Amino acid sequence: MNVSNLVDRATTDIANAPNIDALEQTRVKYLGRNGEITQLLRALKTVSQAERPKVGAAIHAAKKSIENTLSERLTELESLRQQALTSEAKIDVSLSSRTHFRGSLHPVTHSLALIEDILVRANFKVAQGPEIEDEYHNFEALNIPPNHPARAMHDTFFLRNGMVLRTHTSPVQIRTMEQEQPPIRIICPGRVYRRDFDRTHTPMFHQVEGLVVDRGINFAHLKATVINFVEAFFERHVEIRFRASYFPFTEPSAEVDVLGESGWQEVMGCGVVHPNVLSMSGIDPKEYSGFAFGFGADRLAMLKYNIPDLRMLFDNDLRFLRQFG
Ligand code: FA5
Ligand code: MG
Repeated sequence: MNVSNLVDRATTDIANAPNIDALEQTRVKYLGRNGEITQLLRALKTVSQAERPKVGAAIHAAKKSIENTLSERLTELESLRQQALTSEAKIDVSLSSRTHFRGSLHPVTHSLALIEDILVRANFKVAQGPEIEDEYHNFEALNIPPNHPARAMHDTFFLRNGMVLRTHTSPVQIRTMEQEQPPIRIICPGRVYRRDFDRTHTPMFHQVEGLVVDRGINFAHLKATVINFVEAFFERHVEIRFRASYFPFTEPSAEVDVLGESGWQEVMGCGVVHPNVLSMSGIDPKEYSGFAFGFGADRLAMLKYNIPDLRMLFDNDLRFLRQFG
């Protein structure tokens, strides 16, 4: 019975076990129910009475030694396994990150917010009106009777039920005057619709209407309000001009142009509210007068950001929009 040879073989087997499963098989081979050590212990009863204590002690010592070697190797294999797991899960911080884009307000949304902010600070109240409008408020009450040539200028979208998509925010002037007596000082930002499509016109755009009605209001008040507003909106000095114009609902009337990269660009219509408009909506023109303006918010954004084509604002091309982040 060569116990020391057995311990040598076991030591080699244990050292060569590549993983925990293989090590367990090695344990079974020596210490399991039919393992070599177990068999030796069983065979002990065949050893003579005299020899038995000495042989027994040798087998137990071998068993102890194999158990120690096994447990050392187990610790070793476990720590190797742990290392492998951590290195698999390791984050490679040298990998460059993907480009993330932060969302931002659309330039038109941003411009509308800025416009409201400026005019609310100038003491204007914000009013609202319907986008689906009746012809009375969109035209007649604005001194544009059914066969007036000004109707043709509006390129109106007509609905089957006799209503129209409002072609401007001016009907909100009417709706306000129908409900309130002066002093009136409102703005109305909102969507308007026209059958228009070119570099400076889109079928849906945003206007901001302004209306001031009180005693003694005149064109000079309008001019000061417009000039102050335009300078505040552009946040820089811009060349602007008032050009005599015509609207059935104002007299005198003007259009305001801003000098942009491609020359003078019209941004708004304005004027002193026509006495007919005041009286049709229940305000006495002998007592009160007013001024009104209506500008294109998209046009203003186009000029502020030097956008060459108004339609780019509505294409929603991310390469364009990301420039406003
Ligand atoms: C009007 O709509 C008048 N209601 C403005 C007004 C209000 C005059 C109060 C007097 C008193 P006009 O059609 O010119 O006017 O349009 C006003 C502005 O809207 C234009 O100067 C332009 O800036 C903008 N605009 C007009 N059509 C379009 C369009 N298709 N796309 C983008 N902006 C437009
Ligand atoms: Mg015009």
